[in-house]
Amino acid sequence: GLPPTLYWQAPHLLLLDQRLLPHQVAWVSCASAVETATAIQQLVVRGAPAIGCAAALGIAAEAHRLQQAANADFNAAMAKAFEVLAASRPTAVNLFWALTRMRAVWQAQRHNPSACVAALTTAAEAVLAEDIAINQALGQHGAELLNSNDCVLTHCNAGALATAGYGTALGVIRAAIAQGKKVSVLADETRPFLQGARLTAWELMQDRIPVTLITDNMAGHLMQQGRVQAVVVGTDRVAINGDVANKIGTYMVAVLAHRHNIPFYVACPLSTLDPQTPTGADIPLEERSGDEVTGFDGCQWAPSGVPALYPAFDITPVELVTAIITEVGVVAQPNEKKLRALLS
Ligand code: MRU
Repeated sequence: GLPPTLYWQAPHLLLLDQRLLPHQVAWVSCASAVETATAIQQLVVRGAPAIGCAAALGIAAEAHRLQQAANADFNAAMAKAFEVLAASRPTAVNLFWALTRMRAVWQAQRHNPSACVAALTTAAEAVLAEDIAINQALGQHGAELLNSNDCVLTHCNAGALATAGYGTALGVIRAAIAQGKKVSVLADETRPFLQGARLTAWELMQDRIPVTLITDNMAGHLMQQGRVQAVVVGTDRVAINGDVANKIGTYMVAVLAHRHNIPFYVACPLSTLDPQTPTGADIPLEERSGDEVTGFDGCQWAPSGVPALYPAFDITPVELVTAIITEVGVVAQPNEKKLRALLS
C-alpha cells in the first residue's frame, strides 16, 4: 500500500521525501521549524493540505526543541518559528490557515511552556486527522458527479501525497471507485517538477486504480477525440469570488475543457478557500528558479545560460469552473455569494 505522506514521531516530524519518488521511498526527519520550512521550500513535502499539516507538525517539533528554555526565550523562538514557516512558500493558503490555528494554541498557553508543548502537539495531530476525514467527505460529494466508465483527466498531484491521506481530486476518484463506478484517470505529466508522472501515477498504481500517463501537451488532442469525460483538479487557494490558483498548466486545461464542453471540477477543502483574498489577481503566485526548467535531477537539456521562466502556479478564472467540490457539498457555478455561504 501507500506509505504515509507525513507523521509525528515524537519529538520529530517525518516527511516522505517526494523529490525521490517513485524510485525511492525515504524519509526526512525535521527537528525544528527551520528544518521544516527548508523541506517545504525544497518540495520534500508539497500539495496545499500537506504543506499545512507539515507546518503544524513543524511548530510542534520546534516547541519540543525548546521545551527546556526559559519562558521568555521559548516565546521569542516560537514567534520566529511562525515567521520562518510563513515565509516557506507563498501560494497555498493552507499553510497560513494551519499557522493561524497553531498560533492561537500557542497564545493561549504561552505562559506555561510545558503545557504549551503538549497542547501544540495535540493540535497538530488534530490537523492531520481532520484533513483525512475532510478529504473522505469531499470525495463522497465529488463522486456523485462522475459516471461509470468516465475517464477523468487530472493535473499535478492532488492525492494522498498532497494531503495527510486520501487526497482531494484523487479522493473524488477513490470515492467513485468505492461506490462501484468504473473510473479511470488520465494523468498530466505536469512539467517541470513532474508531480503527475512521478507522484500521481505512482500513488494510483499503488492502489491499483487505472491510470494512464500523458505529457501536458496531449490534453487538447485527447479531449477533441472524446476520450475525456471530466477534469478534476486540486487547488492551492480559491479566492472568495471563485478564481482558482493551482499548478502551472491548470488554466490551459480549463480553457481546453471549456472549448470541448467537458466539466471542469475543482476539489477544494474549506481550508483552501480564502475569504481574505478577493480575486485571483490578489493571490501571490510563487516563482521558482529557471534551473528547474532547463533540467531535472542532474540532467540538463537546455543550452547553458539560456534564460528560463518558472511561474509555479496559474489562475483559472471562475467562469471556467463548472463546480467547486468541498467537504460540505458541491457548489455549481460558484460565485462570491455561494462561497461566503459555505463559510458562515
Ligand atoms: O508545487 P506543488 O506540488 O505544491 O503544487 C501542488 C498543487 O498544485 C496541487 O494541485 C494543490 O496543492 C492541491 S493538493 C490537494
